[in-house]
Amino acid sequence: MEYTTLGSTGMEVSRICLGCMSFGTSEWRDWVLEEDESREIIERAIDLGINFFDTANVYSLGESERILGTVLDDYDRDSQVVATKGFGEMREDDPNSSGLSRKALEQELSNSLDRLGMETVDLYQTHRWDYDTPIEQTIRALDDAVRRGQTRYVGASSMWAHQFAEALHASDRVGLERFQTMQNHYNLLYREEEREMLPLCDREGVGVVPWSPLARGYLARPHEDVEATRRGETDDHARGHPYFEGNGRTVNERVQELADEYDASMAQIALAWVLHKDWVDAPIVGSSSIEHLEEAVEALEIDLDDSDVAWLEAPYEPVRVSGHE
Ligand SMILES: NC(=O)c1ccc[n+]([C@@H]2O[C@H](COP(=O)([O-])OP(=O)(O)OC[C@H]3O[C@@H](n4cnc5c(N)ncnc54)[C@H](OP(=O)(O)O)[C@@H]3O)[C@@H](O)[C@H]2O)c1
Repeated sequence: MEYTTLGSTGMEVSRICLGCMSFGTSEWRDWVLEEDESREIIERAIDLGINFFDTANVYSLGESERILGTVLDDYDRDSQVVATKGFGEMREDDPNSSGLSRKALEQELSNSLDRLGMETVDLYQTHRWDYDTPIEQTIRALDDAVRRGQTRYVGASSMWAHQFAEALHASDRVGLERFQTMQNHYNLLYREEEREMLPLCDREGVGVVPWSPLARGYLARPHEDVEATRRGETDDHARGHPYFEGNGRTVNERVQELADEYDASMAQIALAWVLHKDWVDAPIVGSSSIEHLEEAVEALEIDLDDSDVAWLEAPYEPVRVSGHE
């Protein structure tokens, strides 16, 4: 396994982060794996040297955190880097179970820690921007969580670059913990982050951990087979992203062609492209089988030529913003 320093944290993470949105219960999403299958994948990840795990309170409404915590409990906690997120609604009848107010954050971080069975997570991330809470309040609440020892670092997920710049500026102004990481939507079919967000992260020394590096599976199989899996058939979120717009199909075909040339799978080529980008620390990969995970780790060995990278990128056309509002 390769490890890298996550942004300016000084903390070492595997270059593949295991995404845990696929673990929990199919009652939440049809394609989510139940506990036994999830356990096998998490255990294999640890065997392969993966030390970095990303979950969120909303994934299967807490089941993902519970399963991850249960499995990791059999291992040395000190050698793991556990990241979770808060913001999304956890209880329909409780308006304070969502958002980034001090009340919501304090309660939801405590609930996440209970489910994970941990006193501390390594990285607590805000899942989206909260238009109803001043960012200074959120930053103070997050800073307090660090002081209380509930999280070691704080990070953020998808938002506009101007919002992220405002947040970084606010924490620097008041001398509080700043966001150390950005978890954003980035893959060969969604590159809008290259305009503003990724250069900002680079300049600010913020670690970048992109989500859906395989475009929720579309970059891992030929266009015609997009619905060939349970997730492909039922993942409405995938259809909401602009993957089929802006020459997406041509990019998909180029990934196939290059996969043949490199004697690799499409998933490996798509991941090798993300890993090739200097501003990316560790893509957060989703896996619905042990084989997927093994392929992801093998992708670290693929060194794409610059000309191949340029060829993969050439058909891309700007698409609508997707992943945040
Ligand atoms: N912050 C956010 O807002 C946000 C949003 C989304 C995700 N995330 C995070 O990012 C993680 C990854 O998201 P994602 O699952 O959408 O990512 P992804 O890596 O783009 O897609 C994963 C899917 O790709 C397919 N796949 C993976 N490896 C494959 C292989 N070797 N061969 C063939 N198919 C392969 C599988 O689809 P099939 O199951 O169809 O085979 C798998 O479910 C999540 O677990 C979560 O931690 C965060």
